[in-house]
Amino acid sequence: MLPTRLRKNQAVRSLIRETELSMNDVVYPLFVVDGENIKREIGSMKGQYHLSLDRLPAEIDALKDLGIRYIILFGVPDEKDAEATPAFVEDGIIQEAIRVIKKHDPEMYIITDVCLCEYKSDGHCCFFHQNGEIDREKSLETLCKVTVSYAKAGADMVAPSDMMDGHIAAMRDALDAAGYESMPIMGYSAKYASTFYGPFRDAANSAPAFGDRRSYQMDPANSEEAMKEVALDIEEGADIVMVKPAMPYLDIIAKAKELSYLPMAAYQVSGEYAMIRNAVDNGLLDEKAIYESLLCIKRAGATIIITYFAKELKSLIEKYQ
Ligand code: PBG
Ligand code: ZN
Repeated sequence: MLPTRLRKNQAVRSLIRETELSMNDVVYPLFVVDGENIKREIGSMKGQYHLSLDRLPAEIDALKDLGIRYIILFGVPDEKDAEATPAFVEDGIIQEAIRVIKKHDPEMYIITDVCLCEYKSDGHCCFFHQNGEIDREKSLETLCKVTVSYAKAGADMVAPSDMMDGHIAAMRDALDAAGYESMPIMGYSAKYASTFYGPFRDAANSAPAFGDRRSYQMDPANSEEAMKEVALDIEEGADIVMVKPAMPYLDIIAKAKELSYLPMAAYQVSGEYAMIRNAVDNGLLDEKAIYESLLCIKRAGATIIITYFAKELKSLIEKYQ
């Protein structure tokens, strides 16, 4: 405990406080769907919506009013195929969304999640050989096509969430070769095979049709493995590294922060959101719990927090900070 003389008034408490939140810390995820005039609440994630392209400008205005400057886009197209084609075509849903948003508000900073699971019929993040082994070469080739097409459409940053070894290096090469040397890559470096992604699979319609993601995501029981993944992504040229999920993995965030001099991001995932959201909405927890959850993620070492609570943060900061 702090001595009484340091606790006695608000001014001195603020002076010595180690961690504060600001709207520059948070990235808000948006789910874009095909169709027209759609703003549909996602069943598993109260307060989060599926939006069609024509509804994006109004949403962007609303986000701006709430102080949000950074978004990460996820596409949920009607059609998927075996080759994940909808992910890299020029008029793909994310490519279109980037153009619509940038035309409406060039200042909104757009990060694009790069993965295949939302675009591939089997809902997996990569391709497999006949024998069930991961087809790394084909997976990387396709992921690079996706990356460059997002850059071409006008994205500001890419965030590969596929977990293929060598993906960051391959994407860096592909981006540089296409003239996008200044586009940063944020790696989902330590990505656990977590049950906390449950509500997202519903939101992104990306539950695997067979098996699970354990062959390419990490065992929640391990932390050394995560350090290896972080080190690998740094070596490959990642500009920012990420840990996902966030709250049950604060030790991983703190450990990775010690290992790396790069900016660290953490993803407070759908299950963390659903848990706190439901508890607050049902009066089991005070809404201050939302603020505390984000503050603790930052204290652990993340300077960037991807969170579905970004819309509430401005008012939470005004009330509690
Ligand atoms: C796609 C992806 C997932 C999430 C972010 N990108 C799902 C997964 O890995 O299964 C999860 C986000 C969340 O739960 O909020 N690879
Ligand atoms: Zn995926």
